[in-house]
Amino acid sequence: MNLQINIYPFGSRPDVTKPHPDFYKTLKEEGIRKMVSRHYDLMRLSAINSLFPADNEEFETAKTRSADFMIQICGGPDYFNQHRGKPMLINRHAPFTINEAGRQIWLQCYQQALMETNLPEHLIESFWEYIQVFSAWMVNKKD
Ligand code: HEM
Repeated sequence: MNLQINIYPFGSRPDVTKPHPDFYKTLKEEGIRKMVSRHYDLMRLSAINSLFPADNEEFETAKTRSADFMIQICGGPDYFNQHRGKPMLINRHAPFTINEAGRQIWLQCYQQALMETNLPEHLIESFWEYIQVFSAWMVNKKD
């Protein structure tokens, strides 16, 4: 499986393609919530854990928000827009220091969470390509 991480110039906004519609059709809302929950649990054990809420209740809320967004972007109900308004994710990440090293850890945690879904290879690669590219938009600090 080809889950490669490309490095993009700081401040660039490479073109993003949404995950294939079959990703949502196959994993469904429940599966996406499980995958995002796993991603967050892995980040809590990682070198970027200090970016995320230490309080358990807040941590669960963070999982819900992130899952709401992923469900929406994958073609499911627009829960994120309903609860949080327009995504504006660059602005929402601005209060946090995100460098290329942090992006790599964030993506590595997703590599593991995605592999555990046991989805067909082409669907894992489709979601991967989306986050691999879009994560570059969130980097707001040079290494
Ligand atoms: C580059 C690596 C990234 C890092 C280090 C990072 C880190 C964070 C942090 C610290 C927060 C705030 C705490 C929380 O609510 O979880 C957050 C929120 C969030 N992130 Fe990321 N993020 C990254 C990439 C992404 C990407 C690529 C997406 C979407 C595909 C995304 C979607 C979200 C969403 C939806 C929220 C909640 C925003 C809100 O409702 O306030 N993040 N992220």
